[in-house]
Amino acid sequence: MEQTSRVAVVTGAGSGIGAAIAREYAAAGAQVVVADLDGGRADAVAAEIQTAGGRSVAVEMDVTRREGFLATFAAARSAFGGVDVLVNNAGTGQNGGIRGLDDQTWERTVAINLSSVYYGCQLAAQEMVPRRAGSIINIASRAWLGWYGQFAYAATKGAVVSATRSLAIELAKYGVRVNCIAPGLIDTPLMQSLDQPVKDKLMEAQPTGTLGTPEDVAWAASFLASPAARAVTGQTLYVCGGKSIYARPAARGR
Ligand SMILES: NC(=O)c1ccc[n+]([C@@H]2O[C@H](COP(=O)([O-])OP(=O)(O)OC[C@H]3O[C@@H](n4cnc5c(N)ncnc54)[C@H](O)[C@@H]3O)[C@@H](O)[C@H]2O)c1
Repeated sequence: MEQTSRVAVVTGAGSGIGAAIAREYAAAGAQVVVADLDGGRADAVAAEIQTAGGRSVAVEMDVTRREGFLATFAAARSAFGGVDVLVNNAGTGQNGGIRGLDDQTWERTVAINLSSVYYGCQLAAQEMVPRRAGSIINIASRAWLGWYGQFAYAATKGAVVSATRSLAIELAKYGVRVNCIAPGLIDTPLMQSLDQPVKDKLMEAQPTGTLGTPEDVAWAASFLASPAARAVTGQTLYVCGGKSIYARPAARGR
């Protein structure tokens, strides 16, 4: 995977998928900035990486604010000299149909899931284009294809997929690759916070019949950040147990 001596910033890395990506990158030799709204959780993940012999710093930041990214990139430059890989992972899960959606939830979902990607990608482009190298990975969701009770969530994740494709075109000539990962149901605190009917329906439609782990997503993020993915840009890699193909439970033959 060859992350050695590369510098990665992972947002929302204090929990779930982001923490798994941070650990995976660090285990491969990368220097990792663990960024999260919850400074305590970010500190804990960075400390765990250091204890395991890796190099990591924690930053308490808010992805809904440009200042949060400015502080995070400044920390990466100061600790490790720059940013080679950005994983826009921090996100929130909204569920419930449009009839129960309120303005505050809508705006918060857009801010955390989408405005964050705008700020992060813009700063990453400024950092990576002059060096003619870099990899940006945006964590979308299989839900962008559409799903029960996920109006706001699916809308923001669809926008992330679309923005990724446009940015990949814009930055390709500068050697900067931009890709998405679209997880299915992954066992994290966010997934556990979903209403039971939503979880049940999501699980029913996962053809493998198994719940994904944060490490499943981290391995995909590892590939996309690596030289092995040098010809891959503008793509959405599904880590969803086949849910994106819309197989029904009966198709599993169970
Ligand atoms: N778990 C799943 O089933 C699943 C499926 C598809 C996509 N995803 C996506 O994966 C990503 C990670 O999800 P997860 O399941 O690991 O969630 P999680 O709730 O376990 O972790 C999310 C982390 O993001 C941080 N965070 C939240 N708001 C933030 C903000 N404003 N600024 C900085 N950090 C903030 C939280 O503190 C938390 O540590 C999200 O983008 C989510 O939409 C998850």
